[in-house]
Formats: sequence, C-alpha cells, structure tokens
Amino acid sequence: MNRVRAPTLVPQRKKQKGVHLTSSPRSYEIKFCELVIFIMERKMGVTRRRFLMELARRKGFRVANELSDSVTHIVAENNSCGEVLQWLRGQKVRDSSRFELLDISWFTACMEAGKPVDSEIKHRLIVQQDCSATSETCVSEASSFAADRVSQYACQRRTTLNNYNKKFTDAFEILAENFEFRENKLGCLEFLRAASVLKFLPYPIVKMKNIEGLPCMGDKVKCVIEDIIEEGESSQAKEILNDERYKSFKLFTSVFGVGLKTSEKWYRMGFRTLEEVKAEKTLKLSRMQIAGFLHYEDIVSYVSKAEADAVSLLIKDTVCMFSPEALVTVTGGFRRGKKTGHDVDFLITNPGPKEEKELLHKVVDLWEKQGLLLYCDIIESTFEKEKLPSRRVDALDHFQKCFAILKLHQQRTGNSNSNISKESDKAEVKDWKAIRVDLVISPFEQYAYALLGWTGSRQFERDLRRYASHERKMMLDNHALYDKTKRTFLKAESEEEIFAHLGLDYIEPWERNA
Ligand code: CTP
Ligand code: MN
Ligand code: MN
Repeated sequence: MNRVRAPTLVPQRKKQKGVHLTSSPRSYEIKFCELVIFIMERKMGVTRRRFLMELARRKGFRVANELSDSVTHIVAENNSCGEVLQWLRGQKVRDSSRFELLDISWFTACMEAGKPVDSEIKHRLIVQQDCSATSETCVSEASSFAADRVSQYACQRRTTLNNYNKKFTDAFEILAENFEFRENKLGCLEFLRAASVLKFLPYPIVKMKNIEGLPCMGDKVKCVIEDIIEEGESSQAKEILNDERYKSFKLFTSVFGVGLKTSEKWYRMGFRTLEEVKAEKTLKLSRMQIAGFLHYEDIVSYVSKAEADAVSLLIKDTVCMFSPEALVTVTGGFRRGKKTGHDVDFLITNPGPKEEKELLHKVVDLWEKQGLLLYCDIIESTFEKEKLPSRRVDALDHFQKCFAILKLHQQRTGNSNSNISKESDKAEVKDWKAIRVDLVISPFEQYAYALLGWTGSRQFERDLRRYASHERKMMLDNHALYDKTKRTFLKAESEEEIFAHLGLDYIEPWERNA
C-alpha cells in the first residue's frame, strides 16, 4: 500500500520548520482538473480529514479547503445522505444537486487506482427512508447487511459504542471471563471474538438467520445465541453467575493488585468474601493489594468522564511544570469515547532533548508532597533488553510507566459547602475520591505506536497484531512495526501512517470499541 507520511504529531514549534500542513497546500502537480473534491469533517475529525486531503493532493487531485463554488464532489464518511443534505442546508447551500455526494468508499477507490474512478451507484449517497430504529427498519437493515463480508479482524471493522446486542455480548463476556478464571485461553478468546463481532452489527439479532455468514460464530457461540433468542436469557451465563468459583474470583480480582494467581490462592484457602480475606491477619498482602483494599469502594465505583477530565488537567499541569514541551494524551477507554472507565490512562512523550528518565519521578514526588499520591508503583523502562517487536500477541511493553492511585478533590456544590463549615459538624467529610491512573512515557519516535497500543480496546489490539502477522508478515507491538519480508522497521509519526503501513483503512479511536 501507499507509504504515506501523514501530517505529524510534532508540536507547533517544530511544525513550522519542515512539516507541511493543510492551510497552505504545498504545490503538488494537479493531474485531474475536471473534479474538485471537498471532504466533510463531520464525524471524521480534523486529523483524518487533513490526512486524506494531503493524500489526495499528493496523488494529483484538486482538493478544496472550503465548500467553494468550484467544488464538484463531496466526500463524507459515516454520514447518511440525509445527514449530508442537512449539513449542506446548514452551509446555506441552496442547490445541492450540483454536487456529487459520495461515500468515502469512492475516495478510497480513487486513491487506490491513483485516478478518479466512476461514481458508481455503490459509492453514491442516496436518500433512504427514515432509519429510526423501529424493528421494521432494523430487519430491513439486517437483510441488506452483507454478513459474509464482515472481517474476522476487529481492526477491519468500525465498532462504535452503539451496541445493539448488549444482551448477547454481556452473556459472552461472562462466559469468556469464566474461561479466563479457569485458565482456558481458547474458550475465553472464542467468546471475546464473538462478542466483538456482535458489537459491530448495525442491528439487533432477533433470529438465527441474522447471524448467518458472520465470522467467529462457532457452535458453542451459536448455542448461547439460540438460548437467548428463545428464552430471553442465557442459562449458561446465569449458571456461571451463581457459580461459587466465578463469584469469588470476580470479587477478588476487583481488588487493585489481585490477579488470577492470588485469587486462586485465596479460593483454595477457603475464602469466599473480601471480609474473610481481610480478617485473616496472617496473609501477606502486597503494597498494591493493601492500597487496593484501602481504596476499594472508590476504585470499584467507575471513573466518570468529568473525573477523568479533572485528573487530566492535574496531570497536564504537573507534567508541564517540569517539561513544558511534553505532550500528554488521554488514551484507553476515554480516548475511545467511553463515558466511564475503571481507570484513566495517559501517554506522555517529550519531543524536546533526550533524558526525561526523571520526569515521572519528579511528577510523582510533587504529588506526594502535595498529599495527592495515594499509591504509586513506577516500572522502569526495560526497552534496551529487547529489540524486535514481540511475537506474543498479549505481551506487555517496555515503556517506563506508573500505576498510581491519585486523590482527586471533588468540587463541592454550594449547599454542601456550608454544611462543612458549620462549627458543630466537626466529623470529617470526605471530599475526595481515589482514582486509578496509568501513566506511560514513550520516546518521541515511538509515540504513534504507543498511542495506538494504549488506546485499545484490548480486542482491537489483539486483532491488529494478529492481522499484521497473519496477513502482512509483519510484527507489531507498542513500540514498532517490523516488516519481516523487507527486514526493516517501518517508521510512523501518526496512527494513520501505521494503518497505511499495514494496508488497513484508518479506524478512528471511537471506532475501536471492539
Ligand atoms: N495496555 C497495554 N499494556 C498494558 C495494559 C494496557 O498495552 N500492560 C493497553 C491495552 O491495549 C488497553 C489499553 O492499554 O486497551 C488501556 O487499558 P485499560 O485501562 O486496562 O483498558 P480500557 O480500555 O481503558 O478500559 P477501562 O475503561 O476499563 O479502563
Ligand atoms: Mn483504562
Ligand atoms: Mn489502564
């Protein structure tokens, strides 16, 4: 595929030097004068739009920055015809018939062909009947959906948070977790993959015919689906929810610092509740587990988007004090648009001069002094030890990182404020919440790979790596992409470039909720 250099993540100062941005198009030779393309930003985002515009210009297409009179072709992604028309009305366009309204598939076909391709019917945006989610439209959606063309790889599916099949995917996730607790990796993966495929389906499953042709639907999976269609719930999942081992493991692993090994041990020792574990004074708990028990209630209650934003501000402020040039990016579930998370994940990189082994230490030391650090475990970088991307699909990376628990002071509303200041009310009111935070530091050259790796979802990451090795003879991890045929590492400055190296269409973070 095209080896594209996308607009980079280089911070402002550097951008001005070498890297070209869209506002003043570099003069590429125009090969195709007859059409002028305008790419809609709606639902696409600035970065991707900029990337696509640059790509098309490099290939000799005329691309307009604005919706000017010269525009002939409008390209939209994930927008229905109705949505594009509505947007055009908002732009005060009176006669939209002068444009060809096209789906991104047309644009991609042009880029692949290196010249304009016919705007065949399949690429055109066509007005359809109202698609409000009545069961009738859903059924017609299901019948027009090409199930046999759904990829087995999550990295070739756009999976938003809009899940029509939660009833099914919840059951699958319980079954997968039960397999995980019993250390049956294959069983676990089978159900995680099936859940991921159903999260992508644009309609709810109402009959077995709806899953015909879909990948990852083995017999065990089908059995569960049939059960839910017929009975309204999965008897297997229900049984598991009542299973003693499952219940204990679920409880134990909800404590920060407790994994399968510890759960197994506690289960064998006969413990079934956290109270029983806490009461056993002879148990040796790790520092992480002690913190986990101490802040248990706060940590099991999910982090909200507002809390994640507040933590984000705090982190950016602190990092900036020591390293004003550093980029701090929220990754994980919140970058994928989730409204809650079990923690908040951050990636930090410094485009400035090298060193910065100390940055993380300086940051946590300051929080410690400010009384904001409830727990912290810094893992030093182990990068030098290994060179090639790891073959293991679930391998951990080598970045310096920190698993922490931060004290987030909560904004008080007006009346609770007056409550606290009352002289009689001396009892301490807890006005903070313990929040789990993951901080990862990556060298600037590896930033795009680290960002892709830490954005998830886990299933999306697994399939990216599986796709790279099975379909492209490449090895991908959180640091690099290695082409085994050419025996070279492929450099990338943006996520778009990594997808392009892999020959994949770009998938936005919020479409990676596989
Ligand atoms: N990750 C990783 N290496 C780890 C831990 C996490 O590469 N040792 C990546 C995974 O790809 C994961 C992402 O970082 O998708 C974020 O991990 P995590 O916080 O566990 O999951 P989220 O998707 O953010 O979900 P949640 O909202 O529950 O936090
Ligand atoms: Mn997370
Ligand atoms: Mn995390």
